[in-house]
Amino acid sequence: TRTAAVIPAAGRGVRLGPGAPKALRALGGTPMLIHAVRALAASRAVSLVVVVAPPDGAAEVRSLLDAHALPERTDFLVVPGGETRQESVRLGLDALPEGHDIVLVHDAARPLVPVDTVDAVIEAVRDGALAVVPALPLADTVKEVGAAPAPGAPEPVVATPERARLRAVQTPQGFDRQTLVRAHRTVTDEVTDDAGMVEKLGLGVVVVPGHEEAFKVTRPLDLVLAEAVLTRRRL
Ligand code: C5P
Repeated sequence: TRTAAVIPAAGRGVRLGPGAPKALRALGGTPMLIHAVRALAASRAVSLVVVVAPPDGAAEVRSLLDAHALPERTDFLVVPGGETRQESVRLGLDALPEGHDIVLVHDAARPLVPVDTVDAVIEAVRDGALAVVPALPLADTVKEVGAAPAPGAPEPVVATPERARLRAVQTPQGFDRQTLVRAHRTVTDEVTDDAGMVEKLGLGVVVVPGHEEAFKVTRPLDLVLAEAVLTRRRL
């Protein structure tokens, strides 16, 4: 069975501050997206990577891929993305040729995921899981809050889920291709991850250990951390 990876990279990255689309911003002198593409292509199981570019940035992404050294055994496709992450992933799935039975979906915003994490996700799908997410236990306690009684008033805490049972979910998430395609065709609610769509189909999703270095670059401090991780790797 062959594995393809879809990398949604069409987000603006508003929370990171003003500038280029997040995936195109540099990390250690190389665009974040290129790091993410290399991280997935580092797995020998991945034979195709589909990059979902900003809607007006497909040509720019194509030339970026051509300008950077990438493994020869991997094919690369670029398609324009959509308004939401969910739509971008669906456009990436639409571009997948036949013959790939396992699909990974990986945020361009997680440029430093180690190849062992990628391989662990693929392995779990090969072992029969329909949907697999890498995840880590939480450091912080999480509270559910309700609406503030008046604008500017403090939000009331509604519940405290037991921390030991919670996991923070990362990518790449791995799927049986047909299951993910069906989820994207039938689930219309907004969800924040692809496995959430499979859950809405009533199908099982399993967790494998994630990795600290698979964190998502969202806010300015995350860029500082990512640069530090890269520097440590180069020592
Ligand atoms: O915004 P967030 O950090 O959740 O985005 C996660 C990933 O989804 C990023 O890699 C981003 O580029 C991608 N995305 C996308 N299309 C959108 C919005 C986000 O491909 N419309």
